[in-house]
Amino acid sequence: MTEHPNDTAIREIDEAAAPIIALDAGERSTHPKRVYVKTYGCQMNVYDSQRMGDALAAEGYQPVDSAEDADLVLLNTCHIREKAAEKVYSELGRLRDMKQERRADGREFLIGVTGCVAQAEGSEIVRRQKAVDMVIGPQTYHRLGEAVRRARSGETVVETDFPAEDKFDHLPLAKPKVTRKRGVTAFLTVQEGCDKFCTFCVVPYTRGAEVSRPLARLVEEARGLTEAGVREITLLGQNVNAWHGEDETGASIGLGGLVRTLAQLPGLERLRYTTSHPRDMDDALIEAHRELPVLMPYLHLPVQSGSDRILKAMNRKHTAAQYRAVIDRIRAARPDIALSGDFIVGFPGETEEDFEATLQLVRDVTYAQAFSFKYSSRPGTPGAELDDQVPEGVKDERLQRLQALLTEQQIAFGRSKIGETMDILLEKPGRKPGQLIGRSPWLQSVVIDQPIGEIGDLVTVTITEAGPNSLFAVPASSHMDKKQVS
Ligand code: SAH
Ligand code: SF4
Ligand code: F3S
Repeated sequence: MTEHPNDTAIREIDEAAAPIIALDAGERSTHPKRVYVKTYGCQMNVYDSQRMGDALAAEGYQPVDSAEDADLVLLNTCHIREKAAEKVYSELGRLRDMKQERRADGREFLIGVTGCVAQAEGSEIVRRQKAVDMVIGPQTYHRLGEAVRRARSGETVVETDFPAEDKFDHLPLAKPKVTRKRGVTAFLTVQEGCDKFCTFCVVPYTRGAEVSRPLARLVEEARGLTEAGVREITLLGQNVNAWHGEDETGASIGLGGLVRTLAQLPGLERLRYTTSHPRDMDDALIEAHRELPVLMPYLHLPVQSGSDRILKAMNRKHTAAQYRAVIDRIRAARPDIALSGDFIVGFPGETEEDFEATLQLVRDVTYAQAFSFKYSSRPGTPGAELDDQVPEGVKDERLQRLQALLTEQQIAFGRSKIGETMDILLEKPGRKPGQLIGRSPWLQSVVIDQPIGEIGDLVTVTITEAGPNSLFAVPASSHMDKKQVS
């Protein structure tokens, strides 16, 4: 079987998360307590991990990038598929052994489980793995400091209620100081939770109801980021385009209005948002794509299936035709927009004909990138109660066929950019000396070998080559020079 794509996504996020909270070596001291936060799952968890690191800094904890160096380990977990949740228990087994060794030496070692597994399983985690000191659900992170103090005094803490207060009002704002290693781009959670209740999905149970953070708070946090040198902000939410709030005059606005407000921030070159639901793509947001150059021409719009029968059983509340119509409207507003999507194969009752409808939708829409998953039955969701579960072998075979098509489209999209001149945002050094890696407007990784600028610069390049996962480029002017010479 081919590798499950979400495992790749999770690994990428793990790697991305570690350096964000790492301090420069010179800042380490031998005495302070040290915390290691390991992040699984989606970008919302990456953002939360950063906020938790900041909150623990106020408790005297310094971030480190391995469990071996830490006195406190937090696993910020994901419950979306069975594999993701099970990973946590194997990691906890490893941590238990470390804890026993530390305790034998008389040293402190605390283990906390946060994120969506914490919310879904609560005290069951402590029952299954007694070495765990804290279980803290995503809506109670502002109580983390207090929880750690209680755990240090020997209490086992389980906090999984949904308090009325907004946790973000009590957590430090995204602090560019500790994110400077990757200070060019930043995440900003604007919305949390989900009221949609797709029948396969745990998110409404693990993250609770849809909540939008207020505009003024978001502007303040975004301004702090741009003033510290962040050039690109990705707005996050489980249903980011369900965000709603009020502008300065008290008028109701949606994500389109938020994007319009943030677009005015000096120094902000690029805005993105993820993840969107097709039902919440309103006119104001589509107009923002037409009018605002700062809004990047890339949209992650999951559809899950191309079959109306399955979409209905999934409770997606839209048909395949409605999804296609939304795509048509977006493409009319922003013709160069690239699409990305999520797909599930083998939802209960999915026939070969249903699956063919998904393949057909993919052929018609064409995606620049996509994530596809085998349906994973999740306890407590209506999907888990359905008869007619699809055999594992059939799911494997469908996933392979779908991924072959999506990979073909991704490669074709990369190739279509060869010869094109575009701006890329330089984000980090490459593997080879002198090499830099930037991102295209379409979220592609672009490798450049010639001197062109500094990390954080927006530079103009011409694409010369396309590999399966990255593009290669030369400075736009040098390409022109070469052309003139030849
Ligand atoms: N809020 C987003 C997606 C959140 S979860 C949306 O509505 O589109 C990210 C993706 O994980 C989903 O889009 C779906 O493709 C996948 N997923 C969620 N639950 C799943 C399950 N039980 N089995 C397999 N894939 C699942
Ligand atoms: Fe899950 Fe559906 Fe909500 Fe997305 S919209 S988080 S898939 S329930
Ligand atoms: Fe996973 Fe929770 Fe995100 S279940 S995908 S970490 S919202």
